[in-house]
Amino acid sequence: MKAGSRIANAAFAKKLCTAEDAAAMIGNGDNVGMSGFTGAGYPKAVPTALAERITASANTGNPIRIGMWTGASTAPELDGALAAVDGIELRLPYQSDPVSRAKINAGHMEYIDVHLSHVGQMVWQNFLGHLDVALVEVAGITPDGDLIPSSSVGNNKTWLDLADRVILEVNSWQSQDLTGMHDIYYGTALPPNRVPIPLVAPGDRIGVPYLRCPADKVIAVVQTHAPDRNTPFKAPDATSQRIADHVMDFFGAEVSLGRIPSTLLPLQSGVGNVPNAVLADLQHGPFDHLTAYTEVIQDGMLALIDSGKLDVVSATAFSLSSDAVERFNSNARDYRDKIVLRPQEISNHPEVVRRLGVIAMNSMIEADIYGNVNSTHLMGSQIMNGIGGSGDFARNGYLSIFITPSTAKDGAISAIVPMVSHVDHTEHDVDVIVTEQGLADLRGLSPKQRAQRIIDRCAHPDFRPVLQDYLDRAMQSGYGRHTPHVLDEALSWHTRYLTTGTMRA
Ligand code: COA
Repeated sequence: MKAGSRIANAAFAKKLCTAEDAAAMIGNGDNVGMSGFTGAGYPKAVPTALAERITASANTGNPIRIGMWTGASTAPELDGALAAVDGIELRLPYQSDPVSRAKINAGHMEYIDVHLSHVGQMVWQNFLGHLDVALVEVAGITPDGDLIPSSSVGNNKTWLDLADRVILEVNSWQSQDLTGMHDIYYGTALPPNRVPIPLVAPGDRIGVPYLRCPADKVIAVVQTHAPDRNTPFKAPDATSQRIADHVMDFFGAEVSLGRIPSTLLPLQSGVGNVPNAVLADLQHGPFDHLTAYTEVIQDGMLALIDSGKLDVVSATAFSLSSDAVERFNSNARDYRDKIVLRPQEISNHPEVVRRLGVIAMNSMIEADIYGNVNSTHLMGSQIMNGIGGSGDFARNGYLSIFITPSTAKDGAISAIVPMVSHVDHTEHDVDVIVTEQGLADLRGLSPKQRAQRIIDRCAHPDFRPVLQDYLDRAMQSGYGRHTPHVLDEALSWHTRYLTTGTMRA
């Protein structure tokens, strides 16, 4: 198919221009709402052209810098390109790009790490300032002027609704059979006018398959033919496999106890290789007619559909390897009944996550002996990626599971520490912690009982005696025996790592 035939509406076709011309319509200080979520559906041409313009502007002594808002992470040709030329003044709500990360941690770029379900309402509430431009990739424009969403939805509805000016990239690489897979809900409102989100099962459709945008707001339409980021997943290693096996055993036990049905409850699986290993295990496990209410569809989720184990998945984006994307693009029509892509404020909506009883499985950086979890910061100060949707699901799910290898950096770092150096998920929102050493079910336990279970089941044997010694001495402390700590030692493992390169004493 020729790229041009994707733009079937004359009013939109009239706005066709080059990426360079479109980039020239973005000004210094503009807040730009861009599409893109976990490397899917981000604009592929205008950001690169904008990066070139920013470089030229720096040479004139009037450097252009923008506020950049997205759905979540994007790709090197967007986050990486704009960060490399110092073109981003402020970034939100999530990134995982090495160049962006380095700029943020060096203090050259401001970053606001936001729960992904909150972004839309924060923009509607005007908490983040005015949205000047929406730069959104779509898969096509219908004769009626409806926009066929791309491989992610993210915050695109909000950007298109609220921005003064709209630039569209129409990407003919995206499968045309994405048409009909999306469910764009136009019923959200701000308090006091909110009504219940009428979604009671993961596959429910409550909106329309298209995004809306009046043609007169559109200032440029750019044609592209370029793939998504499509990062490969690592084959599960022995550690991920052991973690996945513990999770499977736990599910089996919960089903036997009658706490969850044999179809389990709608699954949410976070980013990374370890959650993907759990999905791979489910493919061969005893549970059938699974469903998922999650944020991203990764390879493991697609494989579950292919194997007939998963009936339906709701998400806001794909995050596939090149192999999986090829499989998807050649069979997109067949997946259409089994996949619903929604705006991230609905895919991650606390009300819906609570109603459906989602089983939330997310990776973490570290947990402390009481069950507080750090998902975002290395040694308390350096941002890794961001909280993403982990808080949306962990706080509101039926079961909140956090997983990690028990050590990092070749055993120099323990993922179980006396006190986390940053808190994203408090002990009140964490039900289960899993490492390759074992699984700690924390439900119904007091802080001291939780600490003993986490040390016994999850800590690496090299760090277990030192954690036990810490807990024993903390229990003797005169100050408080409810959540005992030795305060001047609580973060000493982190400071030791920073000064000696290891947490080992
Ligand atoms: N202290 C210091 N560094 C640590 C660490 C710790 N406790 N644990 C891991 N690291 C380092 C690793 O060594 C690795 O470093 P490298 O890149 O230099 O090799 C890096 O952090 C990433 O570790 P890895 O085990 O490869 O992580 P991952 O890819 O499985 O991702 C998170 C783990 C927590 C960073 C990731 O899941 C995340 O960003 N989560 C937050 C968002 C989220 O949960 N979203 C899901 C909602 S849908």
